[in-house]
Amino acid sequence: MPIRLHVMKNHEEASRHVAEMFQQTIREAPASVLGLATGGTPERVYELLCQFHREDGLSFSDLTTFNLDEYLGLPAGHDQSYRSYMTERLFGHVDVNPDRVHLPRVDDFPPDEAARQYEALLQQTGHVDLQLLGIGTNGHIGFNEPGSARDSVTRVVDLTEETIRSNSRYFEDESDVPRRAVTMGIATILKAKRVVLLATGGSKSRAVAEAFGGPITDANPASFLQEHGDAVFVLDEAAADGLAGILHGVP
Ligand code: F6R
Repeated sequence: MPIRLHVMKNHEEASRHVAEMFQQTIREAPASVLGLATGGTPERVYELLCQFHREDGLSFSDLTTFNLDEYLGLPAGHDQSYRSYMTERLFGHVDVNPDRVHLPRVDDFPPDEAARQYEALLQQTGHVDLQLLGIGTNGHIGFNEPGSARDSVTRVVDLTEETIRSNSRYFEDESDVPRRAVTMGIATILKAKRVVLLATGGSKSRAVAEAFGGPITDANPASFLQEHGDAVFVLDEAAADGLAGILHGVP
């Protein structure tokens, strides 16, 4: 099935649409397994989920969560680690069971072992019910940079210069940005029952257009989502900008 599209006016509306998808999933199946992403894009989604918890009693207590990735080489507890990010933006504000919240355990095990354990735990848990993704300007999903194989699983990866430069906005200095990470693989991500990719802003428009309507190729890892049976892109108008030509040919 082709990737479905929801083009919303702006970042706020796109974030709300995604937060409501998660809310609905949690209400319908409170013991769902959620796949979560970090970065700038989903911050508002997490704010809204915290609000739904606070104001509407949305409960996270029976959920299991798996994050896509974690940096390597940061001191334990570093404020830019994805574990800290998730605690600060979501887990610290909702009634999630800490025993069912998962990120690669890079502080406790050597990187390859942390990756192997993470993939095993995912397989043992079964499938992710709803996976949230962002997209890099180079088409990466998780930290599956261009060149990542369709059958890749959770592993240690080197970040590209483009990703390091792009992520330096979250660090004091570009030299502080980790060079490596543990990420779910493409095959791992594609096992999720449903996938929602949120992208906003003009800097993502080329990667989004190639992923949606270009050839399925490891040059744009997000293009592998065309092979997923239930993937949706939720975009703002700026991120959808490159799609006009492609959509013209779509009935
Ligand atoms: C984060 C992740 C990455 C980001 C991507 C976009 O867990 O896996 O793929 O989604 O780098 O990052 P932002 O949202 O900061 O532009």
